This record gives sequence, structure tokens and C-alpha cells, in this order.
Amino acid sequence: MLNILKKFSTSNGPEAPGARVLKFWSLRPRSDREAGDAVTSNFLLHWFPAKVSKASMAWRYSFWLGTITAALFLLLTLSGLPLLLLYVPSVERAYQSVKDLEYVITFGRWIRAVHRIAAHAMVIAVVLHLARVFFTGAYKNGVGRNQHREWNWVIGVALLLLTLFLSFTGYLLPWDQLAFWAVTVGTNIASAIPMIGPKVRELLIGGRTIEQATLIRFYVLHIVFLPGAVAALFAYHMWRVRKDGGLARADREETAGVPMLTTPSATKTYTLLGVARGTAPAVTARTLQAPNTTVNAVPDLARRAVIATLATIAVVSILSVFIRSPLEEPANALVTPNPAKAPWYFLWLQEIVTDTTIHLGRFTINGAFIGGVVLPGLLIGLMTVWPWLDKSPSLAAGVWFARERRTQNLVFILVMVAILALTFIGMVMRGPYWQFYWPWQVWPDVPGRI
Ligand code: HEM
Repeated sequence: MLNILKKFSTSNGPEAPGARVLKFWSLRPRSDREAGDAVTSNFLLHWFPAKVSKASMAWRYSFWLGTITAALFLLLTLSGLPLLLLYVPSVERAYQSVKDLEYVITFGRWIRAVHRIAAHAMVIAVVLHLARVFFTGAYKNGVGRNQHREWNWVIGVALLLLTLFLSFTGYLLPWDQLAFWAVTVGTNIASAIPMIGPKVRELLIGGRTIEQATLIRFYVLHIVFLPGAVAALFAYHMWRVRKDGGLARADREETAGVPMLTTPSATKTYTLLGVARGTAPAVTARTLQAPNTTVNAVPDLARRAVIATLATIAVVSILSVFIRSPLEEPANALVTPNPAKAPWYFLWLQEIVTDTTIHLGRFTINGAFIGGVVLPGLLIGLMTVWPWLDKSPSLAAGVWFARERRTQNLVFILVMVAILALTFIGMVMRGPYWQFYWPWQVWPDVPGRI
């Protein structure tokens, strides 16, 4: 790989004046100028600035979770291409085409596993990236002009929702019992929206029941509109990071930079030509010593981005050799599995939906309304406007768990722990008829048990 990269590199030999060379990579730029040129003349590196702050590149600052999320999206696109050629989006043939992938087509099982594991991993990575941004207060602006990090956070919230929806639409495609009933449970939650709920569900699934219209709707959303929207918003997200002067950590370096005090030598007195008595007023100049806090984006940033991307692809590819993708019986609207569970990332909502039906005299507040509409709506709304509610100083940004943001970090952790606990309960501790079972308890044999 490195040899191929080197082959395209300009740093192998001197360049004739005026010659246009394909500057694909520059692993060892010989000067700052060449490092800068590599960025400006290369399409792949256009998102990079010429110089980047060392501290913001540290693995321990961002854990490169945004890049890992992007790498997973790239892997999903790459592994999705061969699947496009083999999958048939029709209720009669979808299941069989996935079965062929599993049992007939060379490497079909592996490609499907790569796609599936990358999809689940992307949901996890995007949530971890969000948590990292929150804990470092990285939606706050610093010293630069025209910064709008709060908008990048809002774009991020949209990316999170798109990622969840992208995964959800893919869930249905194998057209087996697991897919069919997970999507049935998931879309039923949408019907709890007052007045328009049933219409929203109808719009989503293209009718009253999940059938061919739903499959084609989910398929087109999954392969065209949602990936297109993620790609476009991601491009904007990255452009904003550049416009905002890099990561919040870089700003912090500048704001918190300790100026070096230097006292100029007393070569002049200001004592009325020495006629009047008294000492000269002390003049202390503050000069900001600029220690070398930046490095060239090429090769330093570029190398790390490549490492994070290749490592992500390698881990998913290796896991896919060992982890089989589930494929149950073909979808059957007449046989309801018991229990029927939503996709794992919506299980915390399903848990709330089943636990929160409240009876007040003659009135019943439907749990689906609280768990499916009020709570997620509130959470998403609050999360979107959070950068404007957080009034902590700029210095609390770009650093993990700043003291000034202690309370909000604590609340964030509590909410995350609650969501994780409910997800765990939904995944492992709910058995037939949504009864509670300890992980080591055996479920009774009931019709439709999965
Ligand atoms: C498809 C989903 C997403 C992708 C591919 C993505 C990608 C990235 C990348 C590559 C960076 C550069 C720093 C890093 O690697 O951590 C970044 C920064 C950032 N992201 Fe995301 N992101 C996504 C979703 C989100 C979400 C859900 C949020 C929050 C709601 C968010 C908010 C931000 C912010 C505020 C920054 C600037 C961070 C800083 O200044 O330290 N992003 N994103």
C-alpha cells in the first residue's frame, strides 16, 4: 500500500518547472511549501488545513471517533455495492436472494456480514462521537472569527437521526421474521403521534400493512436518499470543522496559551529628562510566545486519518469472518414472534412504551405516546438547542470534563446510563409476553417463541 502511495507521490524527485504532476500523496514532504502544496492541489486532502494543532490530533482527545464513523460509512457504501447486484427488492424473492448470499454466492456471507456489522458499529460509533463532543464541550465557539460550532452540532444531530433511519430501513430488507416484526414494532410506535400518527405510519410503510410497497419504499430510502443525505451532510460537517478553525481543542490552545512576560531593559527613563526625581515607570511588555504547537497536515494528520480508516476496515473485516448474520424463517404476517422486539437501538423506547401506560380515572395515557413521541421528541429537541443553553465559558471547551460543565456532564451520563440499562433489559431480560426474566432463567415454551 505504502509503495503504491509513494509511486504517486511528488516527493520522489524534483518537479520540472510548470509541470503538472498528479499529487496523490506526499508521505515525506521536503519542505513546508511542499506539505502545503500537497493539501491545496489534492482533491482528497481538500478538507485539511495546511497546518493543524498537535493537541487536537491526539488520540486521547477525540479518539478519532468522527473519522471512524466516516470510515464505517465508507465501508457500508463499498460493501453495499456488490449487495446491490445480488439483492432483489420483491417480497417473493428478497428472502431467497439473501439466502443465496448466505449459502451459494462466493464470499456472499462475508460481504453481508461486513455490511451488517459496519451498520451496527456505525450506530455505536456515532453515539460515542456525540458523547465525546458533549464531554469536551466542543460545540462551543472559541477565539476564531465567524465560528459556528453550534451549527455543526445541529448538523450532527441530523446525522445521528439519519444514521438510525438508514439502519432501520436496512433492517427490513432480508424479509425474514426478525426483519418483518422488528419493523412492525418500530413503525407501530410512529402511530402513537396524536391525530397524524396513523397517517405518518401509512406514509412510511406505503399502506396499512407491511408488504411490497413498504419493501420498495425502505429499499429506495436505504440505497439512494438516506446515504445521499448522509454524504451531503457529512461533507458540510467537515467543511464547517475547517471553517471553525479546526477542532475546539485548537482554540483552547490559543485561549489558554500562557503568555510569556518579558521585561524590557530600562534603557529609557520617563522622568522629565531626569530633572524631576523619581524612578521610571516599569514597562512590562506581554509577548505571546508562539511555541511550535502545530504540524503540517501532510503527513501528520493524513497519516493518522489513514490509520484510523484502515484499522476500522480491518477490524470489521476480521469480525465478519467469525460472526454470522442472522436469517430466520421467511416473513409471515400471520405468525407473531413472542416476544416481538424492535431493532436493538430502539429497545429502550420499546421498554418505555410498554412500561408507561398511565390510567387517570377514565383517561388512559398511552405508553406509546410517552415512549414513542413525547420522550424522544423532548430529547431530540433539547439536544438540538443545547449549545445555546450551555452558558459555560469558552475555556470549558476542548477539554474533557471541564469543571465548569460538571453538572451538565453528570446529567448527560445519567441519561446515557438509563438508555443503556433499558436497552440491556430489552435485549436480554424480556421474554415471552414481554415478561421479565433474568438472563440465566429459561423461558417457558409458548407459541411463537423466538
Ligand atoms: C454520520 C455521522 C457523523 C460523522 C461521519 C462525523 C464526522 C466527524 C469528524 C470526522 C469530525 C472531526 C473530529 C473527529 O474525528 O472526532 C467531527 C467533528 C465534529 N462533530 Fe461529527 N460526525 C458525525 C455525527 C456527529 C454528531 C451526531 C454530532 C453531535 C450531535 C457531531 C458533532 C460534531 C462536532 C461539534 C464536531 C467538532 C468537534 C470539535 O471541534 O472538537 N457529529 N465529526
